[in-house]
Amino acid sequence: MTKLEIDVLSNITEWTVEAAQYAKNHLNQISDIEEKSGEYDLVTSLDKNIQKIFNQHIQEKYPDATIIGEENFDKNYSDIDKGLTFFVDPIDGTLNLVKKHDCFAVMVGVLYNGESLCSAIIDVMNDKLYWGGIATGVYCNDIKLNAAQDSPLKNGLVGVSWRQFLKNSFSEINIAKHSAGARVMGSAGLEFIEIITGKHIAYIATLMPWDIVAGKILVESLGYKITNVRGNKINLKKSNNIIVANELAYKDIRKLQMRG
Ligand code: IPD
Ligand code: CA
Ligand code: CA
Repeated sequence: MTKLEIDVLSNITEWTVEAAQYAKNHLNQISDIEEKSGEYDLVTSLDKNIQKIFNQHIQEKYPDATIIGEENFDKNYSDIDKGLTFFVDPIDGTLNLVKKHDCFAVMVGVLYNGESLCSAIIDVMNDKLYWGGIATGVYCNDIKLNAAQDSPLKNGLVGVSWRQFLKNSFSEINIAKHSAGARVMGSAGLEFIEIITGKHIAYIATLMPWDIVAGKILVESLGYKITNVRGNKINLKKSNNIIVANELAYKDIRKLQMRG
């Protein structure tokens, strides 16, 4: 397992850095901005081209692997429990990118036989690559990150996804009231990074599998808790309402949700 983790990590970190460089080189040539599920769910030429770069690398290096790519037409979840599966989000935070914000990431998370293996998330405009795995631990560039530390909800900031916060289906507003405050990054990958760098104490969002896997592997590798909002295991074959937090803040959040 460790040998495989090291091999896959050396490839995905290289590909992620290449993708970030490609994004930076093409920032002024973004075209074909299209709506997907709605007015604020966008895809651009950059998202599609970076998806193609990942597909080519993965197919060449791991021809038997399954690819779940946000911008791939086919998303076949039936084989994600067998062998290697790569979940690729070529640009995470496309609305930010289109609106000229710097908050966007490229991310890839890898499962082996359905279990977390390793992942990479790059904060493109800040040149910070977060990478690691269950056996390796987690790094920002070449600095090793610390394991999760317990701290109560009231001491920290909570990352939320904007539209879900407005719906307040899972007591998000009350949870934010019991914290130091709520923040919205507009990039799931960068929200996970806020957790592992200790800037946010929790993250509550509704996300698709390619938004989740890379971050899930990094937070699990550092000992954070990640479940769906009912406290159950995340299902990587569909959209999930997730909670990520250290153990203590997680308990505070679940208590508030159970009170309703
Ligand atoms: C989006 C971002 C955003 C999250 C949305 C995602 P995209 O990803 O991660 O933070 O709230 O649910 O769809 O579409 O820019 O890859
Ligand atoms: Ca995304
Ligand atoms: Ca995306």
